Amino acid sequence: MGTGKPTDPVAGYPGVTLARRGEAVSRESLGLRAHQLEMTVLMTPDMANFSGNVHGGAILKLLDQVAYACAARYAGSYCVTLSVDQVTFLQPVHVGELLTFLASVNHTGRTSMEVGIKVVTEDIQGGTLRHTNSCFFTMVAMGPDRRPVAIPPLMPANDEQRRRFRAGAARRNLRAEMARRLQAVANEEHSDG
Ligand SMILES: CC(C)(COP(=O)(O)OP(=O)(O)OC[C@H]1O[C@@H](n2cnc3c(N)ncnc32)[C@H](O)[C@@H]1OP(=O)(O)O)[C@@H](O)C(=O)NCCC(=O)NCCS
Repeated sequence: MGTGKPTDPVAGYPGVTLARRGEAVSRESLGLRAHQLEMTVLMTPDMANFSGNVHGGAILKLLDQVAYACAARYAGSYCVTLSVDQVTFLQPVHVGELLTFLASVNHTGRTSMEVGIKVVTEDIQGGTLRHTNSCFFTMVAMGPDRRPVAIPPLMPANDEQRRRFRAGAARRNLRAEMARRLQAVANEEHSDG
């Protein structure tokens, strides 16, 4: 039975009340951070693989959607996926569990940004949480001409954000190094053959 109190339409956002239903307000005025995003999805039977657990591809699709939403929200423009790193499925996810994706822009270049996503899996009935996956997407912001466009540089504001920024920069260097080495191997194979 209801308490008679009006329901807060944005109860999930601490301290936020909207003046009128349907009125558009800015994220900033609600205190929502543009570089972070959280999404929770219930794992339904249509996502199952042949063994009855959740199909890895279904989770990959959700990860890509979360990375897109986080990047596009931060950049304020359309974004494309350039690469995905460190997707590992260490434990199965079961139908009926709740997946929460915690996404954050960790590092920015001129037009690209790294979005880190941590996946927390909740057994709704059992009441337990597991950290099942973490991965890193590189997203590129695109202008109306469908060419890469500059994004606002990320300004890490606390120790945690500074740590993520440094780690993101290190991963960017490692990706570039790996690309160089793989190219050298390909060149060798080409000259051998
Ligand atoms: C992403 C894309 C627009 C980049 O195009 P491009 O001509 O290389 O553009 P630029 O040279 O301006 O590079 C744009 C950014 O991508 C980065 N980048 C491009 N190629 C890269 C590579 N091979 N490795 C790492 N970073 C790369 C650049 O460093 C730059 O980032 P920065 O501005 O932060 O330094 C292009 O590769 C593309 O359209 N890819 C397809 C994306 C897509 O459709 N994704 C969905 C998959 S189905």
